[in-house]
Amino acid sequence: MKFHILTWGCQMNDHDTEKMSGLLVRSGLLLADSVHDADLVLLNTCSIREKAAHKVYSELGRINEIKASRPDRPMAIGVTGCLAQQEKENIFKRAPFVDLVVGTMALKQLPRLVANVFGGGNHVIDTDFYPDNHLFPVDCISRSCSPKALITIIEGCNHACTYCVVPTTRGSERHRPVGDILTEVRNVVDSGFCEVELLGQNVNSYNGGCTFAELLYKIAEIDGLEWIRFTTSHPMNFTKELAQALTSISKVAPFLHMPIQSGSDKILRRMGRGYTAQEYIDRIGYLGERRNNMCLSTDFIVGFPGETDEDFESTMSILELIKFDASFSFIYSPRPDTPALHLADNLPESIKHERLARLQARQTEFTTQSNLREVGKIVPVRIESHTPSEQGYWLARTAQWRNVHIENSADSQLPFGRLVDVKITGAGPHWLKGEVL
Ligand code: SAH
Ligand code: SF4
Ligand code: F3S
Repeated sequence: MKFHILTWGCQMNDHDTEKMSGLLVRSGLLLADSVHDADLVLLNTCSIREKAAHKVYSELGRINEIKASRPDRPMAIGVTGCLAQQEKENIFKRAPFVDLVVGTMALKQLPRLVANVFGGGNHVIDTDFYPDNHLFPVDCISRSCSPKALITIIEGCNHACTYCVVPTTRGSERHRPVGDILTEVRNVVDSGFCEVELLGQNVNSYNGGCTFAELLYKIAEIDGLEWIRFTTSHPMNFTKELAQALTSISKVAPFLHMPIQSGSDKILRRMGRGYTAQEYIDRIGYLGERRNNMCLSTDFIVGFPGETDEDFESTMSILELIKFDASFSFIYSPRPDTPALHLADNLPESIKHERLARLQARQTEFTTQSNLREVGKIVPVRIESHTPSEQGYWLARTAQWRNVHIENSADSQLPFGRLVDVKITGAGPHWLKGEVL
């Protein structure tokens, strides 16, 4: 039997796919190259915005057509991830050909549930909460071929942002014990990884035996590890102790993604974010001078219910003031079972789109300026491709998570996953150009 998993959403979902692959391989299934060659197809879904949820149903339709086109070979179809946790049995109502629904907090039950489906079970579902779900066996993860190993430190979220499905789809926080995390990092380093990314909806609230800052110090002691990344940080849990750790541990990559969402205190209050714009600015200030060596990235939501022109101008002002090196911005999307659904949302769509376009255009200017400041520098980059692209360049990343395109003569091979010193020779909004020294 062969399986194929399609994945949407954030790094937590990418990593859940690696965990599910590990579980299925351990129970004797083989990895299929494509949906066409699979006996079991899993859609690991996201429901953060409405568009993400819609995409799942249209993709399910496409897969069902593939299933119908090969009547000689049965295909089981399953839905996992945040949409599965949110919609539960409703998935069978909208897509009756789905055989299996597995929630985010029942991931470890997958082999039993798949055996049930292969044994003839119809509409098999488990969206229960298993309190030990986050205690995942470290030797049972089929890692994708990225040069960076993903490591869960927290599952769930204890914040209650009024627009967000995550507290429902991922539950409240469960912290992995510090010993498990250190064992896993040692294991991945022993197996050849030089970079890890610590994952949680809010990594800096970590409390599985020590603080997040203390965890960073402990992980940094592991020989052979070069760069430590982490995502995501919440401003309310960003402490002076953490800022000190980020700026003093040389293995911590100088990159901080900390969503601000809005520059208006009124909107931040309505979002339930728990800080004011000034408090966000003050916390960035904890980084001191070292802030200048770091890439700072953020998320914005535009067109939140009640956002006036003045509120949006406050968002533009904070972008001008902080000059984020990168940002991800989205139009507010009303989500089921979230408190913001009850807020009056009278803003015309055209205005939301105009605001988003203005914010993104200004961000592109800041990102370009930030990238241009790198030109002329000699920096270590990690090689992220096995072969050159069709255009003839290799993909790599700097410690600050900037994309680098390296032009290299076709006959020389660059070492995948390893650091190479390059001279930055050019920059655009989305990439740097580099030459191997
Ligand atoms: N835990 C992270 C964010 C996870 S969701 C944090 O709070 O920092 C990633 C991003 O999606 C959020 O930062 C937010 O900008 C966006 N987002 C979440 N829910 C949304 C919604 N209903 N509409 C639009 N964007 C949303
Ligand atoms: Fe959602 Fe807020 Fe939790 Fe982030 S901190 S996952 S936005 S509830
Ligand atoms: Fe999406 Fe769930 Fe991640 S909603 S963004 S996959 S936590």
